[in-house]
Order: sequence, then C-alpha cells, then structure tokens
Amino acid sequence: MSQSAASSAPPAAGLIQPAIEVRRLHKSFGKLDVLKGVSLTVPEGEVVSVIGPSGSGKSTMARCICRREEINKGEIFLYGKRVDGSNHSNRDIARLVGMIFQQFNLFPHLSVMDNLTLSPINIRGLSKEEAVENAMGLLKRVGLEEKKDARPGELSGGQCQRVAIARALAMNPKIMLFDEPTSALDPELVGEVLDVIADLAGSGMTMMIITHEMVFAKEVSDRVVFMDEGNIMEQGSPAKIFSCPDAPRTRLFLQRMLAPLGKDFSGESGSEACGHES
Ligand SMILES: Nc1ncnc2c1ncn2[C@@H]1O[C@H](COP(=O)(O)OP(=O)(O)O)[C@@H](O)[C@H]1O
Ligand SMILES: [Mg+2]
Repeated sequence: MSQSAASSAPPAAGLIQPAIEVRRLHKSFGKLDVLKGVSLTVPEGEVVSVIGPSGSGKSTMARCICRREEINKGEIFLYGKRVDGSNHSNRDIARLVGMIFQQFNLFPHLSVMDNLTLSPINIRGLSKEEAVENAMGLLKRVGLEEKKDARPGELSGGQCQRVAIARALAMNPKIMLFDEPTSALDPELVGEVLDVIADLAGSGMTMMIITHEMVFAKEVSDRVVFMDEGNIMEQGSPAKIFSCPDAPRTRLFLQRMLAPLGKDFSGESGSEACGHES
C-alpha cells in the first residue's frame, strides 16, 4: 500500500475523524532531513506497528505526533483537530496521547502510587481519592497492586515499564504511543510488558507501537508500517508485510530481523508465491 494522497483541506466536519492523521510531515535537525514528507492515517481503535532500521525516523515521527518536537512542514491532526501549531498546549496533548519510552522516566523519589496520581490530580483535576482509586484499578490491570508503595528503584525493569504504562493510562488518553517499550529490558522481562501491551491492544485502544519485536508486531497489529530513511516505504496487514512485502528494503530488513530467530518472513507463502525474487 502506498502513502495516502494528502490533501491540504482540513478534515471534513461531521465525518468520523481518524485518531491520528499525519500529512506530509517534514522534520530536520540542522541539515539532517529526518522525516521527508511522511503521511499516515490511524483510525480510532487501530493498532499500528512501526518497524524499520535504526535512524529511519520512527521516534522522531512519534515525538512530533505528541508534540515533543516542533515540525518543519506538514500537518498533524488528532481526532480532526490540528495540533502541530501553537493553538494546542502540551497539556491538551498530554490528556489525549500517552507516550511510553524505552526508558521509563518514572519519578525515582516518588512511590508508585504517587507516580500514578501526580498528573491526574494536577492536570486532569481529579481529587486525591478519585486518583488513588483509578490508580489502584490500573495497577491491578498491570498486575502490580502490591507495589503501590514501592519506589521505582525497588522494581525490576519490567515492573517499572508496567508502572509507566499504568501511569500513562491514568491520564485516560485516547491514543497510546509506544517507542521501543521493551528495548531496555533483560530478555526474560520482555514478555510481561508485551502481555500488558497486547491486553491493551485487545481492549480497543488506538495504539502506535514502534518495536523491533517482529513476532509481537505480527501478532498484535492491525497494520504494519515500514519506515526507512525518513519515509514510509511500505505499509499493510501483518500477513502481507511479514509474508510477502513488496519493497526490497522491507524484505532485506525483515530477513535481518527474523534470521536470528530462525524464522523466514517468506516461510508461509514463500517468496516465489508472492511473485518476488528472493
Ligand atoms: N534531537 C535530535 N537532534 C539531532 N539529531 C537527531 C535528534 N533526534 C534524532 N536525531 C537524528 O534523526 C535521525 C532519526 O532518529 P530517530 O527518529 O531516533 O530514528 P529511529 O527511532 O528510527 O531510530 C537519526 O539520524 C538521529 O541521529
Ligand atoms: Mg527510535
């Protein structure tokens, strides 16, 4: 599938708006062009995995969507509202989009409970009682109720990341962006975090997951987007991308990613069946 043709008109009123719409996004750092006109639409409830080589611009795209980076050119809409200008405060975005990073960014001096209630009280305006009740429900959801009084330093990396996910959910976001949420974890802790993310994906949350966990991406996503050198090279269903990608670069990337796992992306239908040369 190629990138959708982006029009310069604002999204039409009255129609069901996509959760995320990125149009011809350009972002550079000095002379380095990192995003070269990326367009991407994510309907509400869709789980999109973004894969691609290191340095291809995946994190930068996610950071632009949640306004942690100013963009150079293009437009970003969340639920039909343009958010790349100055008309939306970072607080508005924080209420709409939860972002999970490789590093958990928990406040080390605060208990798990305080990490989970700080922003809901200060930004969402919840009472302390409401915030604590909500936080307890979320800790239960990520299987960490008994850690509510612990400090992040007393938790494993996997537990910290599950707390970070609960903390993001405590803001009641409509969209969750994950940027390599398991890359910093010891291998035996990856599964517990992926389980939480898969559970969330199954709940109907709109999600964008940047990941190198190819098997997970295949299982959990509605759509897979392959980025390379600041462009979306290819996107499609997991079945299509993982068994029969069109772009040679997608095939090369998947060969490199899946070979150490003893898997071949063309193993199901075979590259010949796809009509591609292997
Ligand atoms: N704040 C920054 N300043 C300068 N260069 C950056 C910055 N953030 C990212 N880059 C560069 O942009 C390119 C894309 O980075 P990134 O979006 O992190 O890629 P990915 O997440 O796909 O690995 C890389 O060359 C990286 O070094
Ligand atoms: Mg990155």
